[in-house]
Amino acid sequence: MVIGGLKVGDHVVKEEGGRRHLIFVCKDCPYSASVSNDLHCRYHIITVLSEVEADLVVLAEVYERVYREAQTKMLIEIANLRQRFSMETVWSYKHLGKASKECEAYFSERHDTLVKIAHDLIAFDPILAYLTLLKEIKIEKSKADSQGKGYVNCSAPYFEILAFLKQSFEKTELISKIKTYLTKLRQIPETAQLYHSIFEADVKPSFIGSRLMFDEMESLELLDEYTVKKATVQIFSHPSKTECLYFINPPEYTLSPEKYFVLSKTREIVSGYRPGKTSLSTVAKSRRYFERLYESTIKDVGKENQIRLELDEISELASIVARYTVGYGILEILLSDRRLTDIYLDSPIGQKPLYVVHNELGQCQTNILYTQGEANSLISKMRAMSGRPFDEAHPVLDFNLTDLDSRIAIIGPPLAPDGSAFAFRLHKITPWTLPQFIDVNFLSPLAAGLLSFFVDMQATMLLTGSRGSGKTSLLGSCLLEVSQSNRIIVQEDTLELPVPYMKKIGFNIQRLKTRSPISVSKTDTEVAPEEALRTALRLGDSALVIGEIRSHEAKVLYEAMRIGAAGNIVMGTVHGDSAYSVWDRVVNDLGVPNTSFKATDLVVVARPIRFAGSLKRNRRVVQMTEVKKHWSDDPEREGALLDLMLYDARKDHIELIEDNLKESELFDKISRTSGLTMKEMWKDIRLRAEAKAFLVELKNKHKLPVLLEAENSTVCRNKIILLKEQQIREFGKIDYDDVLGRWKNWTTTVFLKRLLKK
Ligand SMILES: Nc1ncnc2c1ncn2[C@@H]1O[C@H](COP(=O)(O)OP(=O)(O)OP(=O)(O)O)[C@@H](O)[C@H]1O
Ligand SMILES: [Mg+2]
Repeated sequence: MVIGGLKVGDHVVKEEGGRRHLIFVCKDCPYSASVSNDLHCRYHIITVLSEVEADLVVLAEVYERVYREAQTKMLIEIANLRQRFSMETVWSYKHLGKASKECEAYFSERHDTLVKIAHDLIAFDPILAYLTLLKEIKIEKSKADSQGKGYVNCSAPYFEILAFLKQSFEKTELISKIKTYLTKLRQIPETAQLYHSIFEADVKPSFIGSRLMFDEMESLELLDEYTVKKATVQIFSHPSKTECLYFINPPEYTLSPEKYFVLSKTREIVSGYRPGKTSLSTVAKSRRYFERLYESTIKDVGKENQIRLELDEISELASIVARYTVGYGILEILLSDRRLTDIYLDSPIGQKPLYVVHNELGQCQTNILYTQGEANSLISKMRAMSGRPFDEAHPVLDFNLTDLDSRIAIIGPPLAPDGSAFAFRLHKITPWTLPQFIDVNFLSPLAAGLLSFFVDMQATMLLTGSRGSGKTSLLGSCLLEVSQSNRIIVQEDTLELPVPYMKKIGFNIQRLKTRSPISVSKTDTEVAPEEALRTALRLGDSALVIGEIRSHEAKVLYEAMRIGAAGNIVMGTVHGDSAYSVWDRVVNDLGVPNTSFKATDLVVVARPIRFAGSLKRNRRVVQMTEVKKHWSDDPEREGALLDLMLYDARKDHIELIEDNLKESELFDKISRTSGLTMKEMWKDIRLRAEAKAFLVELKNKHKLPVLLEAENSTVCRNKIILLKEQQIREFGKIDYDDVLGRWKNWTTTVFLKRLLKK
């Protein structure tokens, strides 16, 4: 059969994400590729659907329209209905009326009407077929009323078949949807409008695997809108879902047809380019080189096809091509949205949209459906870039994407039986500082002052919290409180702490990279954490920082601390949600003896808090607890977990528990080792707190966020140390109020001015 010059049969069925995609190649199609816009297109699809089984219909032009399962089902129902009408030949002689002379006069017209409704129109425009049927019923009713019994009698079979058609139409999803819609309207609209309301397709350029979904936008409430790499991001709250919706619309999904053409043509041409012997990691680095190469191809394609392109349009198209050739595709845009902290792609890929975790709004569902094909190419890219295996024997691949300041974890079969799954963690580009944390209300100035004081006084601190609560970030900010004259050794399995940055701003810091305990690789050459720690302990007197304490290294660490061989400051993060759960994890899960656990001085707990009625997730430091030393079995039962500060959600503030301070053994210990009196210690803490709060104030007053960045806040912190030392040299003791006054003066008259000039 030939319709409009196109053979029915120009289609293929492909399986993807467990669903059959019926793909129509519409490149040379004489009509537009859209169910809602074009009746010929509808006819084509409905006729093919009566022969082929499919879950999704895809119309592939330069871009693709994808009709989802529910929409495809509606089309299948119509195709089946049409087949049924044909099989039952609803237009046959016996249905037209009783065999009598006066009745037969109507037969020809009735036959044509039935064929039109149940055979022709139903495939081109099923809604119009139904409306025509309703009209015919109405006409027949009024004829029956006006012409009396004779007409009714002889027309009974016709009435019956009309009623049967009506009933059959109304059983389909499409017509029942339309019926409820029509009852709300006074006038019957153009059917095109009705198709538009039902057959809104997901669109994507055909060279990109990921599909974007854009339905149900009306019922949503827009919470935020911004652009990332020229892509629009809209975040909505959904009336019946607790998680928000994150809609992204990158420029490549909305380009003009000519630009699409240039883009896909260029893609075709450059996919033949081979980077020669260059490895993939060098490819990622020489991104600019490829973009320039693509720019010249784009110019050529434009010229050959008489498509005028401005210079900035050429460079935009080149960066899109680069994104989908040497880059990470649509994920790259998400990875550039630094308001996101995590991106999740669960298996089986292609069934569920991608999820992201927004800094403030928590988990959001995106409008992106990733495909297995894209996932496979991402895996090969990661394998090549990391130089690590990823197969059945090594089903975990953990890797830092330094060019995108993110970390990726991929798990595959047999660990993930439904296929590979991905998780990305986006790092903040510069490290968090305590003043920045005060600014976002993660903790109070006093809490920051206390933390800074304990770091300086060489306390042993464990930072804890649930996943993504900010432990590692808090650890990073505490690292910045270590004096620059101290040496710091950092041990991590995934490189997250801001070591290179700290080196750059003058810290004496050394990093040890260990094997990840979640890596199940059997041929790993990386050093086990406990081995690395033994080495670290031999490196001499330094501040020792463990990115995350999670396996055998715990025992080594605590044993060293117990016998006083672990250097001066020891800090690390542990998963948990309270001081008690840290004890439970370290002692009961990681096997550290109770006596050794007592080497912990302080546990700091962070937690994401949702205030009543709000979707926004607010991270807060909720507990600062001292571990006292005189207990034997259970520190909580024996009153050895002494809260120094506790968060009060009603006030959204972390409060000092003054009554507990009298019982503190930690302050006593610090007093003994430092020679400071209680009064002096608190003056020192308040000096730190007030100085940090002052920086935040200045930053807000002058709208100068860079003031709180580590490169500047560290200079300010150093100035306090210098002023204190000067006073000790001159007067043998510190006048804290005087130091604060001088420091404030220096900060505003010297430092701030210097910064404002930059
Ligand atoms: N107070 C805060 N306000 C806003 N964002 C924060 C805050 N603290 C941390 N973040 C951001 O939250 C994300 C997760 O932080 P981080 O990695 O420190 O958490 P974590 O508790 O160590 O997570 P994990 O359990 O995965 O180790 C990061 O992107 C970080 O920049
Ligand atoms: Mg962490």
